[in-house]
Amino acid sequence: MKLCWSLPLCWFVIACGDSSSGDDVAADAGIDAHVGRPDGVALCYSPAADADPATTGFWTALRAGDRAARDAAIAALDAAATAAPAEEEFHLLLGLAHLWRLAEPLPGELTPAVQVTSATGARDHLRRAYELCPTDHRIAAWLGPVLIRYGRAVNDAAMVAEGEAVLDTGIAHYPSFVLFSKLLVHADAPRDAPEFQQALDAVLANGDACSAVVADPACEDHPHAAHNREGGVVFFGDALVKAGRRAEAEAIYMAGLREPAYATWDYQTLLTERLATLDARIAAYATPDPADDPVAAWAAPNQCAMCHSD
Ligand code: HEC
Repeated sequence: MKLCWSLPLCWFVIACGDSSSGDDVAADAGIDAHVGRPDGVALCYSPAADADPATTGFWTALRAGDRAARDAAIAALDAAATAAPAEEEFHLLLGLAHLWRLAEPLPGELTPAVQVTSATGARDHLRRAYELCPTDHRIAAWLGPVLIRYGRAVNDAAMVAEGEAVLDTGIAHYPSFVLFSKLLVHADAPRDAPEFQQALDAVLANGDACSAVVADPACEDHPHAAHNREGGVVFFGDALVKAGRRAEAEAIYMAGLREPAYATWDYQTLLTERLATLDARIAAYATPDPADDPVAAWAAPNQCAMCHSD
């Protein structure tokens, strides 16, 4: 069984408000998990879980894009969740650490055994996190696609339906964050299929949702997603390229170049190469054979790092 991944979150919009500068996001100082969230959306992290070495160790690894440190981070979070099973943050981060391994595997991790362990770990710990913290509707953005993709891979219609329901709940409560995940679950559909249109509609709606809010972490760069806006541009632009909407795709990639944190972003060539090969990429999507389609952000081996690496 092969589980093909791509997850994540977040969004971008040309006309969105201020974003923080690259330098400001270097430290956690000043991060407030509640500022900018819609009414009714609240995280459930405790100071003890925030300060636990399992938590800080995981963040050190993710922010450095250090996949070699990932297994140790997973083991530490697993031990922390076992020792304090009511701490939602451990389950959430453990689920996401598994998802990271699924989305950005090391060469030795491309085995069915590791993929199944990762998919199951992501599903079960994200489910538990959402049960423990039903107001953190960000979780729907991760759990929904995990259930849908896992369900599709094992032909489990009930799991797929659960994932769709989770995604709808999340979109109803936190559209600026969760709409992005609708892109992830439908972007691989043929570009003329209604499913791909849904992916495109969701990413456009995500842009609108972001232009309607101020200081929402879903729409800005911040310490836990230092290049959210730059990375988001790549996803958004790739969806427009696949749809053949050249002018809009070019505009959004160009907007990425003007982001304040672009200067400190490790993945600048993702944007410059896309701009340089725009016509060829659009032409490749337009052929009937999907085998020549460019590798899009949602299938890329750096799909977490482009938003999360400092
Ligand atoms: C398009 C940018 C983007 C991509 C791609 C992305 N993320 Fe995120 N991620 C975000 C944003 C934005 C947040 C939300 C932070 C918040 O709401 O406080 C987030 C949150 C998180 C968090 C938890 C943050 C917290 O505050 O506890 C983790 C862990 C995480 N992402 C891991 C991943 C992994 C693993 C992947 C790849 C499968 C990924 N992300 C892909 C932007 C992105």
